[in-house]
Parts: sequence; C-alpha cells; structure tokens
Amino acid sequence: MRAVWITDIHLDVLSESACSGFFESIASQRPDEVFLTGDISVAPSLLAHLRAMADAIQAPIYFVLGNHDFYHGSIATVRKAVSECSRSHALLQYLPEVGVVPLTKSTALVGHDGWGDGRYGDYARSSVRLSDHVLIEELTGLTHSQLRQQLRHLGNEATAYLRKTLRKALDQFRRVIVLTHVPPFKEACWYQGQVGNDEWLPFFACQAVGDLLRNLMEKRPEQQLDVYCGHTHNPGTAHILPNLKVFTGEAEYGAPQINKVIEVD
Ligand SMILES: [Fe+2]
Repeated sequence: MRAVWITDIHLDVLSESACSGFFESIASQRPDEVFLTGDISVAPSLLAHLRAMADAIQAPIYFVLGNHDFYHGSIATVRKAVSECSRSHALLQYLPEVGVVPLTKSTALVGHDGWGDGRYGDYARSSVRLSDHVLIEELTGLTHSQLRQQLRHLGNEATAYLRKTLRKALDQFRRVIVLTHVPPFKEACWYQGQVGNDEWLPFFACQAVGDLLRNLMEKRPEQQLDVYCGHTHNPGTAHILPNLKVFTGEAEYGAPQINKVIEVD
C-alpha cells in the first residue's frame, strides 16, 4: 500500500491553476491514499479546497487540521463543519472523526490536530506572538496567562483523544502511524537543522502528546509507532525511542510539495 504524505500546503496562497497542478502531481503518483498533516488552507476556503483536492486525486485523503485552517474562523466551528463533511464524503477522512483506520493487516492509522501547548520552552519569557492569537476566535483577546491556559487545554484535548484511540489501535495492530500537525517532541521541532529555542518551542511543539506517545511506546517495545507532522516548515527525523520515530515535513509558502511516498506493509 502506497501513501503520499503532504503537509503545510497552504492552498489559500495559490492560484486555482497552481492548485490543480499540485493535485495532478499527487495523482500521478497513483497513491492508495494521501496523508495530509494540516495547514491546508484558511477557514473560509478550507472545505472548497478539500473537495477540489478529493475530486482531482480520487483517493482517500486522511487528514488533520493545522492552526492556519482555523484562521478567520473558530476552532469549534471549523472542526464541526469538517467532521460533518468527513461523514458524508467518501474520500475526505478527518482522522479525529474516523478513529482507527486499518491500512493493512499489521498497520493502522490514527490522528489528531494537536496544538502548540505552551509547555516546552519558556512561555513566561517568550515574546513570540503569532497570527493565531488574532485570527482564531478562541485565542483572541486573552491575557498572556489566559492564552497559556487555552493552549494547554488544546494540547490536553489532543492527548485525551489520542490516549483512547491509540490504545485501541495498538491493541490490534503491530504498527501504528500517527498524523498530527504540531511536532509532539522538542527533538522533532526542527528549525534550520536545529531544534527550536525556548522562545518558539511553547508554540511549535505539543508536550502533552509527546509524553503520552513516549509512555505508551516504552511499554510496548515490540511494537512500532511512526509520527508524521508539520507546522515548523523545516524537515527532520527524530528517533525518540527504538520503536518511536517522528518525521517533520518541509514546506514553503506558495510551493507545496510531496514530502514522502510511504510504502505501508
Ligand atoms: Fe502550522
């Protein structure tokens, strides 16, 4: 089984013909499925872009959402609309909605958006302010400490979902693939070949999810977990445990690419 992995494609900054060209390049790989790890578009154009992609590629697209997908909207509203779309569209599969996806006899797929949860790095001293904090309804108009609470809450939500879903997947399958937008470990939060610094880490990695993944896989040394994520636009592979690897994808605004063709056995 052959999957094409793409991430941080930001279709909203592309012309319609550039979008079509990119979709054709994916279709020409003849994938059995597409793995998409978020930052697909922005809220007002997200569903139209997802549908156009599915029409052009004609293969199941398993995806999670990134922070940009909520820009000019709210997290709750976008997730609800995308979940509804996923329930009625044969090819668009939003992973938090679909749960454990069996890919082969031995491998399953699960995923959640995740969120930079303010726990890694030095949130209190960080002067980083993201567009997230003015363009996403739930994150606007908050004090620095209210924002921290909200980021932790979003990280906890992702962790609670993955705790339940991953246990179920690992009880049935030897290998599990996780798609998430935000790197779950600081070691996977690449920036120009290095890991992110204390200024940026609070917003670019999700410690709560990372702690869960490490914990689960330490107890299951005979099983394998591969994580695919994006968000930093800088590529790297982090070997967290012998049975836990994290791939962070490269991306460039205006020039989406295929990050990897994954052979799943
Ligand atoms: Fe992002």
